[in-house]
Amino acid sequence: MTTTDDRPGLTDHTDTDGRGGRRRRLLPLLPMLGHTAGKRSAVTCHLKCADACFHPVPNTSDNPTFREVADTALSRRSVLVGLAAGAGAVSIAAHVGGAPSAVAAGTTGGRLPFQPIAPVGAAVDDLVVPGGYVWAPLVRWGDPLFSEADRFDPATLTAELQERLLGYNVDYLDILEAPNGRSGVLVTNHEYTNEDVMLPPATTPEQLAEQRRIGMAAHGMSVVELTRGRKREPWQYVVGAPLNRRITVSTPMTFSGPAAGSPLLRTQDDPTGTVVVGTLNNCAGGTTPWGTVLSGEENFQGYFRAPETPENARYGIRDRATTRGWEDVEPRFDARTPGYENEPNRFGWIVEVDPYDPTSTPVKHTMLGRFKHEGATVRIAPSGHVVAYMGDDERFDYLYKFVSRDTYRKGDQHREHNKRLLSAGSLYVARFRGDSPVEEITGTGALPSDGMFDGTGEWVPLVLDGVSQVPGFSTEEVLVRTRLAADAVGATKMDRPEDVEPNPRTGRVYVACTNNSARGTGTNEGATEPNPRTRNRDGHVIELTEAGDDPTATAFGWQIVLLCGDPAVNGSTYFAGFPPEAVSPISCPDNLAFDGDGTLWISTDGAPNAIGYCDGLFKVPLEGPERGRVQQFLSVPTGAETCGPVIREQQDMVYVAVQHPGEDGSWGAQQSLFPDYVAEGTVTADAWGGPRPSVVQVWRD
Ligand code: FEO
Ligand code: CA
Ligand code: CA
Repeated sequence: MTTTDDRPGLTDHTDTDGRGGRRRRLLPLLPMLGHTAGKRSAVTCHLKCADACFHPVPNTSDNPTFREVADTALSRRSVLVGLAAGAGAVSIAAHVGGAPSAVAAGTTGGRLPFQPIAPVGAAVDDLVVPGGYVWAPLVRWGDPLFSEADRFDPATLTAELQERLLGYNVDYLDILEAPNGRSGVLVTNHEYTNEDVMLPPATTPEQLAEQRRIGMAAHGMSVVELTRGRKREPWQYVVGAPLNRRITVSTPMTFSGPAAGSPLLRTQDDPTGTVVVGTLNNCAGGTTPWGTVLSGEENFQGYFRAPETPENARYGIRDRATTRGWEDVEPRFDARTPGYENEPNRFGWIVEVDPYDPTSTPVKHTMLGRFKHEGATVRIAPSGHVVAYMGDDERFDYLYKFVSRDTYRKGDQHREHNKRLLSAGSLYVARFRGDSPVEEITGTGALPSDGMFDGTGEWVPLVLDGVSQVPGFSTEEVLVRTRLAADAVGATKMDRPEDVEPNPRTGRVYVACTNNSARGTGTNEGATEPNPRTRNRDGHVIELTEAGDDPTATAFGWQIVLLCGDPAVNGSTYFAGFPPEAVSPISCPDNLAFDGDGTLWISTDGAPNAIGYCDGLFKVPLEGPERGRVQQFLSVPTGAETCGPVIREQQDMVYVAVQHPGEDGSWGAQQSLFPDYVAEGTVTADAWGGPRPSVVQVWRD
């Protein structure tokens, strides 16, 4: 939820006088091309994370195990809505909701009441929303951002054109609204590409090189202006709006913070170590109170070939040809090349982008450390200090917190002060302690005798006010080799911590641990109280309470609120004490969001492999008798994960990013036509025969 209060005004595009404001799109019906079933699989692992889960766990540190620490401490139904037949009409293909779930029956309370949907089989190519709700795409891969003349056709797509179109595989999204609610700016990440689905098979080396450049241009981020007639209406995006922007692997950026200029960041292209070209594998993110957006560079290791030094190995970087082959197009992606040894060090950061200034240079903040950043979520402490929570999404990696040196200035007119807040301060990593005897943590999910997986923890300093706290590491070494520094201080190995979100109502902080099927296998660490299941396929959610409710505190309490899974077949689930038979099955929590009531919303990534259902979006009350009652709101099409939920309950609006629909398909055998199906057996005129990752808006009809 964006609560930005220092945002410049936006252009009002709601007039339709032909100035080119509104998007024009006609949607006559055409016969639907065939689509088949599939489920999320190895393709996603291969392209998204470079098979991170199929390689040995990169964290081989012998930092004190958790137990040691604990011991010492203790069918689609679709209609066309408003389809206009004439030229110049503004049309939205909208789709209505379906049948409710028999499992989690009963309309939910709050301002977005709905009857939970039934879980949807992993092979279904549809986006399903509850009865009484309608969905439509807001913007899709390939939609033009700068000119209606830019025609999207994957068969003839070029890198030069892709630079002007929305990128692929949307993940993070936020909509920063003008006060009148009629104008907004959408910021979205583009995590990775799947050329097998996007593009025809390359037949020449030249075509292959061009397709790699298309992939580069489809990575990064997009900034897109939005318009609507009034609040509580769906948005339309504005082609050619002043703030529209693409950020890609080729966009110049600067480094800020203590490691900027470090020899560890210097290359032959940048002997100063202060300027870097591009961002990649942008996963989740966060919107700051001063109106900028933070983007996490996540699985950057998959883009580089490099010598397998201990430092590179800790990040999973290998000396072998990459799947993407970008090293064949740009030598900097081969860090064996003299002069580019440090290029991989220039990725794996949090990037700050100012969507209100399309000429601004994005900034990579070294003060927030370098790891597989899922995202960064910012809050302002009562003292005015800025706190950012961050997960390192890898099995057995860590949870981090940044606290700024300087304080937030409300009303900072040009935002120059606030835009420097992430450049100086302290960086911490989390160490958890359980309060139950370790022999009661059996790995099965069975609750210990005190009835709860819970305990205390501390934020262990890695850097305090710019000074390294890790013996043997300089400050810049801590920030560039953050994983190794955190190993050295005995951080707690977690089950892939992804989004970390403070609840705006209660101040408590929620951590999505998406899964870790390697826990307790081989020589890997076994169950611990904060990660209490071995072979954790379904993930869990942890609730942190900062000491004294002070976000800058160095101590916290914690408890697990959800052990995910399908309770119908899995006895290890836990829903904060809510009856398991009365919840929607949920697996692999990834992105978290809150509505204004302080209710948690969870989007998932990986449910098909774990529980056999498509990924989705789920609502979970955290207070009162409904605490832990998971209710499914929507389901995304086959192959897709659900990302970036934004909940605007006062407007009866929900937004999600649908990433990698039809992932297991190919150019000649597509498995999804999302989102361009309009009615049973039909697709929209600009459908191309394959899927288009999209930002979707869902509203109460
Ligand atoms: Fe890109 Fe951790 O998900
Ligand atoms: Ca306990
Ligand atoms: Ca994610």
